[in-house]
Amino acid sequence: MYLSKEEEAILEGEKGTVKEKMMRLLTRLGDIYGADKMIPVGSVQVSGVSYKSVGDPGMAFLEDMASKGAEVSVLTFLNPAGMDLEDWKEIGFPEDFAENQLRIMNAFKEMGIVVTSTCTPYLAGNLPRFREHIAWSESSAVSFANSVISARTNREGGPSALAAAILGKTPNYGLHLDENRKPDVLVDVSCDIRSDADFGALGWHIGKLVESDIPYFKGLPEWSTTDDLKSLGAAMAASGAVALYHAENLTPEAHLQDVSDLEKITVDEEDIKDTYAALNTGDEPDIVIFGCPHASLRDIKKVADQVKGKSLKKPMWVCTSRMMKEAADRMGYTDIIEEAGGRIVADTCMVVSPIESMGYGITGCSSGKAAQYLPGFCKQSVVFDSVDSLIEEVL
Ligand code: F3S
Repeated sequence: MYLSKEEEAILEGEKGTVKEKMMRLLTRLGDIYGADKMIPVGSVQVSGVSYKSVGDPGMAFLEDMASKGAEVSVLTFLNPAGMDLEDWKEIGFPEDFAENQLRIMNAFKEMGIVVTSTCTPYLAGNLPRFREHIAWSESSAVSFANSVISARTNREGGPSALAAAILGKTPNYGLHLDENRKPDVLVDVSCDIRSDADFGALGWHIGKLVESDIPYFKGLPEWSTTDDLKSLGAAMAASGAVALYHAENLTPEAHLQDVSDLEKITVDEEDIKDTYAALNTGDEPDIVIFGCPHASLRDIKKVADQVKGKSLKKPMWVCTSRMMKEAADRMGYTDIIEEAGGRIVADTCMVVSPIESMGYGITGCSSGKAAQYLPGFCKQSVVFDSVDSLIEEVL
Protein backbone atom coordinates (compact mmCIF):
# COMPACT_ATOMS: atom_id res chain seq x y z
CA MET A 1 0.00 0.00 0.00
CA TYR A 2 1.29 3.44 -0.88
CA LEU A 3 2.03 5.59 2.16
CA SER A 4 2.72 9.33 2.07
CA LYS A 5 5.88 10.69 3.70
CA GLU A 6 3.84 11.77 6.70
CA GLU A 7 2.25 8.32 7.04
CA GLU A 8 5.70 6.68 6.76
CA ALA A 9 6.96 8.93 9.54
CA ILE A 10 4.06 7.94 11.79
CA LEU A 11 4.75 4.28 11.06
CA GLU A 12 8.37 4.79 12.04
CA GLY A 13 7.32 6.14 15.40
CA GLU A 14 8.18 9.80 14.81
CA LYS A 15 4.77 10.91 16.13
CA GLY A 16 4.77 8.75 19.25
CA THR A 17 3.92 5.17 20.11
CA VAL A 18 0.12 5.50 20.09
CA LYS A 19 0.02 6.80 16.51
CA GLU A 20 2.63 4.27 15.44
CA LYS A 21 0.53 1.42 16.83
CA MET A 22 -2.61 2.76 15.18
CA MET A 23 -0.87 3.20 11.81
CA ARG A 24 0.51 -0.32 12.06
CA LEU A 25 -3.00 -1.65 12.63
CA LEU A 26 -4.44 0.24 9.64
CA THR A 27 -1.63 -0.65 7.25
CA ARG A 28 -1.94 -4.30 8.20
CA LEU A 29 -5.67 -4.13 7.53
CA GLY A 30 -5.04 -2.34 4.24
CA ASP A 31 -2.51 -5.00 3.19
CA ILE A 32 -4.91 -7.83 4.01
CA TYR A 33 -7.72 -6.29 1.95
CA GLY A 34 -5.57 -4.98 -0.91
CA ALA A 35 -5.97 -1.25 -0.24
CA ASP A 36 -3.91 1.00 -2.55
CA LYS A 37 -3.59 3.92 -0.11
CA MET A 38 -4.99 5.66 2.95
CA ILE A 39 -7.91 8.06 2.54
CA PRO A 40 -9.08 10.79 4.93
CA VAL A 41 -12.33 10.18 6.80
CA GLY A 42 -14.88 12.84 7.72
CA SER A 43 -16.08 11.16 10.89
CA VAL A 44 -15.83 8.01 12.96
CA GLN A 45 -18.20 5.96 15.08
CA VAL A 46 -16.56 3.61 17.56
CA SER A 47 -18.16 0.37 18.81
CA GLY A 48 -17.14 -1.69 21.83
CA VAL A 49 -18.54 0.81 24.34
CA SER A 50 -20.76 -1.22 26.67
CA TYR A 51 -19.01 -2.75 29.66
CA LYS A 52 -21.16 -5.79 28.94
CA SER A 53 -19.39 -6.26 25.58
CA VAL A 54 -15.82 -5.18 26.35
CA GLY A 55 -15.47 -6.23 29.99
CA ASP A 56 -12.33 -5.61 32.05
CA PRO A 57 -9.82 -6.17 29.21
CA GLY A 58 -11.56 -3.57 27.02
CA MET A 59 -11.74 -1.10 29.89
CA ALA A 60 -8.02 -1.58 30.66
CA PHE A 61 -7.12 -1.09 26.98
CA LEU A 62 -9.11 2.16 26.71
CA GLU A 63 -7.76 3.57 29.98
CA ASP A 64 -4.25 2.71 28.87
CA MET A 65 -4.78 4.49 25.53
CA ALA A 66 -6.17 7.57 27.28
CA SER A 67 -3.31 7.65 29.80
CA LYS A 68 -0.80 7.56 26.93
CA GLY A 69 -2.32 10.70 25.44
CA ALA A 70 -4.30 9.13 22.58
CA GLU A 71 -6.44 11.82 20.97
CA VAL A 72 -8.88 11.71 18.09
CA SER A 73 -8.40 14.03 15.13
CA VAL A 74 -11.89 13.91 13.55
CA LEU A 75 -15.48 14.06 14.81
CA THR A 76 -15.95 10.78 16.67
CA PHE A 77 -19.12 9.40 18.24
CA LEU A 78 -19.77 6.22 20.21
CA ASN A 79 -22.03 3.22 19.89
CA PRO A 80 -24.58 2.69 22.70
CA ALA A 81 -23.20 2.17 26.19
CA GLY A 82 -24.51 -0.41 28.63
CA MET A 83 -26.79 1.96 30.54
CA ASP A 84 -28.47 5.35 30.61
CA LEU A 85 -25.53 7.53 31.60
CA GLU A 86 -27.66 9.92 33.64
CA ASP A 87 -30.67 8.01 35.00
CA TRP A 88 -29.04 4.59 35.46
CA LYS A 89 -29.70 4.41 39.19
CA GLU A 90 -33.37 5.27 38.92
CA ILE A 91 -33.91 2.76 36.10
CA GLY A 92 -32.23 0.02 38.14
CA PHE A 93 -28.89 -0.64 36.44
CA PRO A 94 -26.51 -2.47 38.83
CA GLU A 95 -24.09 -0.20 40.72
CA ASP A 96 -20.87 -2.16 39.98
CA PHE A 97 -21.76 -2.30 36.29
CA ALA A 98 -22.37 1.47 36.30
CA GLU A 99 -19.03 2.19 37.92
CA ASN A 100 -17.16 0.34 35.18
CA GLN A 101 -19.29 1.83 32.44
CA LEU A 102 -18.53 5.34 33.69
CA ARG A 103 -14.79 4.57 33.72
CA ILE A 104 -15.03 3.53 30.07
CA MET A 105 -16.90 6.72 29.16
CA ASN A 106 -14.28 8.83 30.91
CA ALA A 107 -11.49 7.16 28.95
CA PHE A 108 -13.30 7.93 25.68
CA LYS A 109 -13.90 11.51 26.75
CA GLU A 110 -10.23 11.98 27.61
CA MET A 111 -9.41 10.97 24.05
CA GLY A 112 -11.66 13.75 22.74
CA ILE A 113 -14.49 11.47 21.66
CA VAL A 114 -17.96 12.98 21.86
CA VAL A 115 -19.63 10.97 24.59
CA THR A 116 -22.80 10.52 22.57
CA SER A 117 -23.64 6.87 22.65
CA THR A 118 -25.94 5.98 19.82
CA CYS A 119 -26.33 3.73 16.81
CA THR A 120 -28.04 6.62 14.99
CA PRO A 121 -25.24 9.19 15.00
CA TYR A 122 -26.78 10.67 11.84
CA LEU A 123 -29.75 11.83 13.96
CA ALA A 124 -27.63 13.19 16.75
CA GLY A 125 -25.16 15.58 15.16
CA ASN A 126 -22.89 13.39 13.07
CA LEU A 127 -24.38 13.44 9.57
CA PRO A 128 -21.99 12.60 6.73
CA ARG A 129 -22.53 13.96 3.24
CA PHE A 130 -23.18 12.06 0.01
CA ARG A 131 -20.02 10.09 -0.99
CA GLU A 132 -18.08 11.17 2.07
CA HIS A 133 -15.61 8.58 3.36
CA ILE A 134 -16.20 7.72 7.00
CA ALA A 135 -15.17 4.90 9.36
CA TRP A 136 -18.19 3.70 11.33
CA SER A 137 -18.61 0.54 13.36
CA GLU A 138 -22.16 -0.28 14.33
CA SER A 139 -23.75 -2.45 11.68
CA SER A 140 -27.09 -0.60 11.38
CA ALA A 141 -25.35 2.78 11.29
CA VAL A 142 -22.99 1.44 8.62
CA SER A 143 -25.96 0.20 6.59
CA PHE A 144 -27.82 3.51 6.92
CA ALA A 145 -24.76 5.60 6.06
CA ASN A 146 -23.89 3.52 2.98
CA SER A 147 -27.41 2.94 1.73
CA VAL A 148 -29.65 5.85 2.71
CA ILE A 149 -27.08 8.67 2.84
CA SER A 150 -24.68 7.15 0.33
CA ALA A 151 -21.62 7.94 2.40
CA ARG A 152 -18.88 5.29 2.25
CA THR A 153 -17.75 3.03 5.04
CA ASN A 154 -16.71 -0.52 5.70
CA ARG A 155 -17.94 -2.05 8.90
CA GLU A 156 -15.08 -1.20 11.23
CA GLY A 157 -14.22 -3.16 14.34
CA GLY A 158 -13.73 -1.21 17.58
CA PRO A 159 -9.88 -1.01 17.31
CA SER A 160 -9.79 -0.09 13.60
CA ALA A 161 -12.40 2.62 14.17
CA LEU A 162 -10.37 4.01 17.06
CA ALA A 163 -7.26 3.97 14.88
CA ALA A 164 -9.16 5.82 12.12
CA ALA A 165 -10.37 8.37 14.69
CA ILE A 166 -6.85 9.03 15.96
CA LEU A 167 -5.23 9.21 12.52
CA GLY A 168 -8.22 10.65 10.61
CA LYS A 169 -7.67 8.03 7.91
CA THR A 170 -8.72 4.59 6.78
CA PRO A 171 -7.39 2.16 4.15
CA ASN A 172 -9.07 2.51 0.78
CA TYR A 173 -10.80 -0.81 0.09
CA GLY A 174 -14.22 -2.49 0.15
CA LEU A 175 -17.21 -0.17 0.14
CA HIS A 176 -15.01 2.92 -0.29
CA LEU A 177 -14.63 1.88 -3.94
CA ASP A 178 -17.29 2.39 -6.64
CA GLU A 179 -16.81 -1.07 -8.12
CA ASN A 180 -17.71 -2.76 -4.82
CA ARG A 181 -21.02 -0.92 -4.40
CA LYS A 182 -22.93 -2.65 -7.20
CA PRO A 183 -25.92 -4.88 -6.35
CA ASP A 184 -25.55 -8.68 -6.43
CA VAL A 185 -29.20 -9.67 -6.22
CA LEU A 186 -32.61 -8.20 -7.06
CA VAL A 187 -35.27 -8.43 -4.34
CA ASP A 188 -38.80 -8.06 -5.64
CA VAL A 189 -41.15 -7.25 -2.78
CA SER A 190 -44.47 -8.48 -4.10
CA CYS A 191 -46.40 -8.25 -0.83
CA ASP A 192 -47.71 -5.34 1.24
CA ILE A 193 -45.28 -3.97 3.79
CA ARG A 194 -47.53 -2.25 6.31
CA SER A 195 -45.82 -1.65 9.63
CA ASP A 196 -42.45 -0.88 11.23
CA ALA A 197 -42.15 -4.55 12.21
CA ASP A 198 -42.82 -5.63 8.60
CA PHE A 199 -39.67 -3.73 7.54
CA GLY A 200 -37.74 -5.58 10.25
CA ALA A 201 -39.19 -8.92 9.19
CA LEU A 202 -38.40 -8.25 5.52
CA GLY A 203 -34.83 -7.24 6.42
CA TRP A 204 -34.34 -10.29 8.61
CA HIS A 205 -35.61 -12.61 5.87
CA ILE A 206 -33.40 -11.07 3.17
CA GLY A 207 -30.30 -10.87 5.38
CA LYS A 208 -30.56 -14.62 5.97
CA LEU A 209 -30.77 -15.28 2.23
CA VAL A 210 -28.16 -12.90 0.84
CA GLU A 211 -25.66 -12.91 3.76
CA SER A 212 -23.06 -10.27 2.86
CA ASP A 213 -24.22 -9.60 -0.72
CA ILE A 214 -25.70 -6.27 -1.80
CA PRO A 215 -29.45 -6.44 -2.46
CA TYR A 216 -31.40 -4.12 -4.75
CA PHE A 217 -35.03 -3.73 -3.62
CA LYS A 218 -37.96 -3.17 -5.94
CA GLY A 219 -41.46 -2.70 -4.62
CA LEU A 220 -40.84 -1.07 -1.24
CA PRO A 221 -43.65 1.35 -0.39
CA GLU A 222 -43.24 4.90 -1.68
CA TRP A 223 -44.16 6.16 1.78
CA SER A 224 -41.16 4.38 3.40
CA THR A 225 -39.55 6.77 5.90
CA THR A 226 -35.92 6.96 6.96
CA ASP A 227 -37.07 5.18 10.15
CA ASP A 228 -38.41 2.30 8.07
CA LEU A 229 -35.17 2.13 6.10
CA LYS A 230 -33.10 2.13 9.27
CA SER A 231 -35.14 -0.85 10.54
CA LEU A 232 -34.79 -2.69 7.25
CA GLY A 233 -31.02 -2.19 7.12
CA ALA A 234 -30.50 -3.06 10.79
CA ALA A 235 -32.29 -6.38 10.43
CA MET A 236 -30.35 -7.31 7.27
CA ALA A 237 -27.08 -6.51 8.99
CA ALA A 238 -28.07 -8.70 11.94
CA SER A 239 -29.42 -11.85 10.30
CA GLY A 240 -26.84 -11.50 7.51
CA ALA A 241 -23.94 -9.10 7.12
CA VAL A 242 -25.44 -6.65 4.65
CA ALA A 243 -23.57 -3.34 4.85
CA LEU A 244 -25.14 -1.71 1.77
CA TYR A 245 -28.44 -2.04 -0.04
CA HIS A 246 -30.17 -0.09 -2.79
CA ALA A 247 -33.90 0.56 -3.03
CA GLU A 248 -35.58 1.75 -6.21
CA ASN A 249 -36.73 5.38 -5.95
CA LEU A 250 -35.68 5.55 -2.30
CA THR A 251 -31.90 5.46 -1.99
CA PRO A 252 -29.48 7.82 -3.76
CA GLU A 253 -27.35 5.35 -5.72
CA ALA A 254 -30.21 3.10 -6.86
CA HIS A 255 -30.78 4.80 -10.22
CA LEU A 256 -27.11 4.28 -11.14
CA GLN A 257 -27.38 0.50 -10.98
CA ASP A 258 -27.93 -1.95 -13.81
CA VAL A 259 -30.15 -4.73 -12.47
CA SER A 260 -31.07 -6.41 -15.76
CA ASP A 261 -28.94 -9.53 -15.27
CA LEU A 262 -29.27 -10.03 -11.54
CA GLU A 263 -30.54 -13.16 -9.88
CA LYS A 264 -34.03 -12.43 -8.47
CA ILE A 265 -35.60 -13.22 -5.11
CA THR A 266 -39.35 -12.65 -4.75
CA VAL A 267 -40.79 -11.94 -1.31
CA ASP A 268 -44.45 -12.74 -0.70
CA GLU A 269 -46.90 -12.63 2.25
CA GLU A 270 -45.97 -16.18 3.20
CA ASP A 271 -42.26 -15.25 3.64
CA ILE A 272 -43.18 -12.40 5.98
CA LYS A 273 -45.59 -14.62 7.92
CA ASP A 274 -42.93 -17.31 8.31
CA THR A 275 -40.45 -14.70 9.55
CA TYR A 276 -42.85 -13.52 12.27
CA ALA A 277 -43.27 -17.15 13.30
CA ALA A 278 -39.50 -17.71 13.44
CA LEU A 279 -38.83 -14.57 15.47
CA ASN A 280 -41.62 -15.09 18.01
CA THR A 281 -40.24 -17.32 20.73
CA GLY A 282 -42.21 -15.98 23.72
CA ASP A 283 -45.87 -15.36 24.52
CA GLU A 284 -46.36 -12.59 27.09
CA PRO A 285 -43.65 -9.95 27.37
CA ASP A 286 -42.22 -8.95 30.78
CA ILE A 287 -41.10 -5.72 29.19
CA VAL A 288 -41.57 -4.02 25.84
CA ILE A 289 -38.58 -2.18 24.37
CA PHE A 290 -38.61 0.03 21.30
CA GLY A 291 -35.79 1.95 19.69
CA CYS A 292 -33.63 -0.54 17.79
CA PRO A 293 -31.98 1.19 16.01
CA HIS A 294 -32.27 4.13 18.40
CA ALA A 295 -35.61 5.90 18.13
CA SER A 296 -35.95 9.09 16.11
CA LEU A 297 -38.14 11.89 17.41
CA ARG A 298 -40.86 10.64 15.05
CA ASP A 299 -40.60 7.13 16.56
CA ILE A 300 -40.85 8.59 20.08
CA LYS A 301 -43.87 10.73 19.18
CA LYS A 302 -45.60 7.69 17.73
CA VAL A 303 -45.23 5.84 21.04
CA ALA A 304 -46.29 8.93 23.04
CA ASP A 305 -49.43 9.32 20.89
CA GLN A 306 -50.33 5.69 21.48
CA VAL A 307 -49.95 5.70 25.28
CA LYS A 308 -51.26 9.21 25.99
CA GLY A 309 -53.64 9.17 28.97
CA LYS A 310 -53.35 5.39 29.34
CA SER A 311 -51.72 3.12 31.86
CA LEU A 312 -49.28 0.36 30.92
CA LYS A 313 -49.46 -3.01 32.69
CA LYS A 314 -45.82 -3.85 31.94
CA PRO A 315 -42.61 -1.79 31.81
CA MET A 316 -41.92 -0.16 28.48
CA TRP A 317 -38.68 1.48 27.34
CA VAL A 318 -37.98 3.58 24.31
CA CYS A 319 -34.23 3.57 23.67
CA THR A 320 -32.71 6.57 22.01
CA SER A 321 -29.79 8.98 21.91
CA ARG A 322 -29.38 11.70 24.53
CA MET A 323 -30.09 14.33 21.83
CA MET A 324 -33.45 12.80 20.89
CA LYS A 325 -34.31 12.37 24.57
CA GLU A 326 -33.71 16.06 25.16
CA ALA A 327 -35.94 16.99 22.24
CA ALA A 328 -38.59 14.57 23.54
CA ASP A 329 -38.35 16.18 27.01
CA ARG A 330 -38.91 19.58 25.47
CA MET A 331 -41.89 18.41 23.42
CA GLY A 332 -43.56 16.79 26.42
CA TYR A 333 -43.31 13.27 24.95
CA THR A 334 -41.20 12.07 27.88
CA ASP A 335 -43.84 13.20 30.38
CA ILE A 336 -46.61 11.49 28.42
CA ILE A 337 -44.65 8.21 28.26
CA GLU A 338 -43.68 8.39 31.93
CA GLU A 339 -47.23 9.18 33.05
CA ALA A 340 -48.33 5.99 31.28
CA GLY A 341 -45.63 4.05 33.17
CA GLY A 342 -43.00 3.83 30.44
CA ARG A 343 -39.51 5.36 30.14
CA ILE A 344 -37.33 6.93 27.56
CA VAL A 345 -33.94 5.33 28.14
CA ALA A 346 -31.01 7.16 26.57
CA ASP A 347 -27.43 6.16 25.66
CA THR A 348 -28.08 2.41 25.66
CA CYS A 349 -30.28 -0.29 24.15
CA MET A 350 -31.96 -3.57 24.99
CA VAL A 351 -29.12 -5.65 23.55
CA VAL A 352 -26.06 -4.01 25.11
CA SER A 353 -27.64 -3.33 28.52
CA PRO A 354 -27.78 -6.14 31.10
CA ILE A 355 -31.58 -6.65 30.97
CA GLU A 356 -31.21 -10.34 31.77
CA SER A 357 -29.84 -9.42 35.20
CA MET A 358 -32.65 -6.90 35.78
CA GLY A 359 -35.34 -9.57 36.06
CA TYR A 360 -36.60 -9.74 32.47
CA GLY A 361 -36.94 -12.98 30.51
CA ILE A 362 -39.40 -12.17 27.70
CA THR A 363 -38.99 -8.97 25.72
CA GLY A 364 -41.45 -7.50 23.25
CA CYS A 365 -39.86 -5.63 20.34
CA SER A 366 -40.68 -4.45 16.85
CA SER A 367 -37.12 -4.69 15.57
CA GLY A 368 -35.82 -7.53 13.42
CA LYS A 369 -32.32 -6.80 14.68
CA ALA A 370 -33.29 -6.92 18.35
CA ALA A 371 -35.30 -10.08 17.76
CA GLN A 372 -32.18 -11.67 16.28
CA TYR A 373 -29.85 -10.73 19.15
CA LEU A 374 -32.02 -10.78 22.28
CA PRO A 375 -32.07 -14.59 22.67
CA GLY A 376 -28.27 -14.98 22.42
CA PHE A 377 -26.94 -11.79 24.03
CA CYS A 378 -29.62 -11.30 26.67
CA LYS A 379 -31.14 -14.75 27.21
CA GLN A 380 -34.57 -13.40 26.27
CA SER A 381 -37.53 -15.00 24.60
CA VAL A 382 -39.01 -12.56 22.12
CA VAL A 383 -42.45 -11.29 21.22
CA PHE A 384 -41.96 -9.69 17.83
CA ASP A 385 -44.73 -7.40 16.55
CA SER A 386 -45.48 -3.85 15.45
CA VAL A 387 -45.25 -0.92 17.88
CA ASP A 388 -49.06 -0.52 17.77
CA SER A 389 -49.76 -4.19 18.53
CA LEU A 390 -47.17 -4.43 21.31
CA ILE A 391 -48.54 -1.34 23.03
CA GLU A 392 -52.07 -2.75 22.74
CA GLU A 393 -50.79 -5.94 24.34
CA VAL A 394 -49.45 -4.21 27.46
CA LEU A 395 -52.30 -1.73 27.99
FE1 F3S B 1 -28.73 0.00 18.02
FE2 F3S B 1 -28.69 -1.68 19.99
FE3 F3S B 1 -30.28 -2.09 17.98
S1 F3S B 1 -26.93 -0.77 19.03
S2 F3S B 1 -29.26 -1.17 16.25
S3 F3S B 1 -30.38 -0.37 19.39
S4 F3S B 1 -29.11 -3.63 19.06
